Amino acid sequence: MDFFVDTAEISEISELSSSGMVDGVTTNPSLIMKSGRDVREVLAEICALVKGPVSAEVVATDADRMTDEGRTLAKIAENIVVKVPLTWDGLRACRTLAADGIKVNVTLCFNSAQALLAAKANATYISPFIGRLDDLGQDGMELIEDIRTIYDNYSYETRILAASIRSPLHVSSSALAGADVVTVPPAVLRRLALHPLTDKGLASFLADWEKTGMTIA
Ligand code: E4P
Repeated sequence: MDFFVDTAEISEISELSSSGMVDGVTTNPSLIMKSGRDVREVLAEICALVKGPVSAEVVATDADRMTDEGRTLAKIAENIVVKVPLTWDGLRACRTLAADGIKVNVTLCFNSAQALLAAKANATYISPFIGRLDDLGQDGMELIEDIRTIYDNYSYETRILAASIRSPLHVSSSALAGADVVTVPPAVLRRLALHPLTDKGLASFLADWEKTGMTIA
């Protein structure tokens, strides 16, 4: 499973990448706004830091302008993936950009019929938003399972990118449900390796080792 980090903060991307766990980055207009940086500059910096796919979202709402924006964003670096919203215009732009050889991430997916349309529009990625569905009392993970079944039924190659991740449980459940990629906010990514029993066990091993007076290297 690939791990993307869901942020436009250079310092976070740089620190997390050094763990070797970051395969790509996703951004959106809200994350770019939070970074306080110029969109082109920050995307170029992220693309230089991370060799994997970096999603950059269009902000136009009609297909022609989305396509123009997508082509502009794609010129920033060769690892840019253009993100378009799951609207009819977004799907039209997706098909056109994909025909140009540009990778597209169709975002803001909330049901499996939408995901089916994205696959038919030749999306490279579909981004179902788990956390936002859970917030409404729906089961976001069920959506990942349904999309997995549908894509497998028809051998669609569109990759399922679990998004709107709020907890380590979302990450492991997405893996169990067959998501290809999970995009994780930095704070959640850091929490993935943490367990109180790991800390407790390590403290006890080290205390016993101290008593031996031995060294290893
Ligand atoms: C995905 O690409 C989005 O940027 C992101 O996962 C949205 O998450 P949120 O619901 O926490 O804003």
